[in-house]
Amino acid sequence: ILLIICGAIMAYMIGSLPTSVWLGEAYFGIDVRKYGSGNAGATNTFRVLGKKAGIIVMLVDIFKGWTATSLALILYFMDAISAESIIQFKLLFGILAVVGHIFPVYVNFKGGKGVATLLGMALAIHLEASLLCVLIFIIVLLTSKYVSLGSMIATLAFPILLLIPRFNPEEPLLNIFGFVLFAIVALTHQKNIVRLINGEENRTTIRLKKK
Ligand code: G3P
Repeated sequence: ILLIICGAIMAYMIGSLPTSVWLGEAYFGIDVRKYGSGNAGATNTFRVLGKKAGIIVMLVDIFKGWTATSLALILYFMDAISAESIIQFKLLFGILAVVGHIFPVYVNFKGGKGVATLLGMALAIHLEASLLCVLIFIIVLLTSKYVSLGSMIATLAFPILLLIPRFNPEEPLLNIFGFVLFAIVALTHQKNIVRLINGEENRTTIRLKKK
């Protein structure tokens, strides 16, 4: 039980690592939360600090979710959990990482919207379905030019894809939590939803880039 508690704390701490804030402050002297959409995520880093910084933040944030989720496998190899419960702990640790990303302990609990970290979690849970979601994200982004719309549709696509027999993991918990995760992402995108409805959402990611 002690190992499980340590795993849960580590998952939250990994998710909490505020990549965009630290990278912005260290290399540009800028807190990305004060510019663009004010979000501490990859999209806003693209906008405020440029392509290179955006890609780094995106990859690190994806890696955070993947690593935290994979802690379940370490616990399994340490005989702390059974094979049957790996998926439950992957879900628990993944969600804790996403919560950490949204409410990071290191920077006043003001973080990002959880999408990249959630992708890392999804990749560690169901590679095929999550890669399809990435494809869906890219298609929505290219056709609409809205990152937020792509994020939300791709996040919703994940639990829907899992309902299709070909992808079905026969793990009802995963199906349920897929929708819970979409609900979390919809909540973190409330302002984006309002802007989308009003036709005021940023169409491209680089429009607000600093010179
Ligand atoms: O992943 C976050 C993205 O969906 C929206 O980011 O900065 O445009 O609010 P942003």
